Amino acid sequence: MRRSVTRAPFGRTPAGEPVELFTLKNAHGLELRAITYGGVIVSLRTPDWSGRFADIVLGFDSLAGYVRGSPYFGAIIGRYGNRIAQGRFTLDGKTYRLATNDGPNHLHGGARGFDKVVWSGEPLETDSTVGVVFRYTSPDGEEGYPGTLRATVTYTLTDANELIVDYVAETDRATPVNLTQHTYFNLAGDGSGDILGHELTINADAYTPVDSTLIPTGTIAPVARTPFDFRTPTAIGARIDRDDPQLKKGRGYDHNFVLARSGPGLEHSARVTEPKSGRTLDVYTTEPGLQFYSGNFLDGTITGKAGHVYRHRSGFCLEAQHYPDSPNRPSFPSTILRPGEEYSTRTVFRFRVLTP
Ligand code: BGC
Repeated sequence: MRRSVTRAPFGRTPAGEPVELFTLKNAHGLELRAITYGGVIVSLRTPDWSGRFADIVLGFDSLAGYVRGSPYFGAIIGRYGNRIAQGRFTLDGKTYRLATNDGPNHLHGGARGFDKVVWSGEPLETDSTVGVVFRYTSPDGEEGYPGTLRATVTYTLTDANELIVDYVAETDRATPVNLTQHTYFNLAGDGSGDILGHELTINADAYTPVDSTLIPTGTIAPVARTPFDFRTPTAIGARIDRDDPQLKKGRGYDHNFVLARSGPGLEHSARVTEPKSGRTLDVYTTEPGLQFYSGNFLDGTITGKAGHVYRHRSGFCLEAQHYPDSPNRPSFPSTILRPGEEYSTRTVFRFRVLTP
């Protein structure tokens, strides 16, 4: 099969901005479609053990669905992935106020985060890969954040069936930055029920417990002897309904895992296997944390692609990033980017099939 990357119009935002769709195909027929609105991955088609392709990500058929209200399906999240307590932080002696768009807290960059803006898009081709480069300049003061932030996010599809996500950014004033990717996966195929039978492994000995508004308490807690121990493959649904105070607060899994790392490079952080299709997803990242969200807030009120109703836990997210609320937690790895520094992180999603 021939590798390809093509571009096509994907409608206009209510403000009249044109949105483009990029379609990437590798030599094995793996196909990723992503749009310039929010850098959203709108579909990702991979084979099962018998060679049958299916779309394994949740989303909408058209731009209207994303604009009308999406729980961040497939989107790039910025400036700050996850929550900042009370929408407030102090940096170099100055206190900044951000939108509180999730109860008392700031979530995923605010009212109009990087998931809701139109990025520029350019195709990218090398001898062995295809890709798309998205660029967005976030003006000084946008959503309350200091500094002009120039962000570049590149999706690269390789013939090893990897999706490489590269995040690069620079700023002209110190600002928190925590970029991530918010794809909801269902490895059995979009619209094929819940993800509770998927088997998950996370390379983490600890996680960050949260309060009732999902802000980390500051404790780094061991996963041993808790439902958060995914160090060996365990079905997502095996313990999700246990009477555990942290699972109650998250309404399931909605927690940051502290990845066990041996250095700052790209390391294996998680694996998910769906037993019936044999589809397996491996996640590698340079990030210190992984937010595992089990789609707890999906409640059947959203109808997505091909009329699929997204019921409780019909998709899961593995968001490689820094820990939530780091700007207010000096003991967490820093998320502050300063002028002259380059923000540069990488996350790789690798797709394979294990014959059942
Ligand atoms: C958060 C969830 C939130 C979801 C939004 C996740 O990253 O951890 O709490 O509801 O994004 O869809």
